[in-house]
Amino acid sequence: MQNIKKKPIGVFDSGYGGLTVLKEIVKKLPEYDFIYLGDNARAPYGTRSFETVYEYTLECVEQLFSMGCELVVLACNTASAKALRNIQQKDLPRIAPEKRVLGVIRPTAEIVGKHTKTGHVGVLGTTGTVTSNSYPIEIEKLYPALIVNQEACPMWVPLVENNEFENEGADFFIEKNINSLLSKDPLIDTIILGCTHYPLLIKKIKKHLPQNITIIAQGEIVAEGLADYLNRHPEIEQKCSKTGFVEFYTTDAAENFDKMGSLFFGKKIESKHLGL
Ligand code: DGL
Repeated sequence: MQNIKKKPIGVFDSGYGGLTVLKEIVKKLPEYDFIYLGDNARAPYGTRSFETVYEYTLECVEQLFSMGCELVVLACNTASAKALRNIQQKDLPRIAPEKRVLGVIRPTAEIVGKHTKTGHVGVLGTTGTVTSNSYPIEIEKLYPALIVNQEACPMWVPLVENNEFENEGADFFIEKNINSLLSKDPLIDTIILGCTHYPLLIKKIKKHLPQNITIIAQGEIVAEGLADYLNRHPEIEQKCSKTGFVEFYTTDAAENFDKMGSLFFGKKIESKHLGL
């Protein structure tokens, strides 16, 4: 029998946000091995240009490949919106044709049509994700009748990254962006949290949203999507090692990452610094 070397699954985000996704992935697939990489030294990505997000994301994906990952999940909407297509279509065939990179936008778009009754959907995301139009484009492919409106929330990631997400200042920006989204389309009954940082703001988001609106957060959806992907792709699944370890790497200081990262991951983590 051929001896296939087993490998961890890479999970990438610009910073801490992807930990909200990793948390759910580990719950769903505890037997697999994972390496998380947060590019905290260069976060946030949400306000950066297409070229910069693409360049940084590719560099991090290559780093995860060099650490043994055969499969990498971009647990970041901004990177999924601005870099995934190029990486899949241009870079993978050149640098690693047998490896795979997945994003978070497609699995989220697949779910949305199952929730809305009015057919009116809202998307909250970073400026990069919103201006890329990735959500309206993906949703249209799957559910052409849905009406999609978006709102960029450029202050939300900094509020989370600076540990201000439970303080009063956060209410101002959350209320402002939610009201602006709902004023574009009062029939919205389903809202996608299109940024992996936003689950930390969930209490305040709920406070400012009418109760009849369904909130779609991505952790469980992406975890489900990954489990389904592994089922459908045994040639990738067989390469993934299964000893149940999770390792954390950050491009910034490990002590800072451990403090903040534990809030996102829901339990204590110990990371290592990685220079790119
Ligand atoms: N967590 C990232 C996302 O899902 C955004 C954070 C950032 O702006 O770097 O879009």
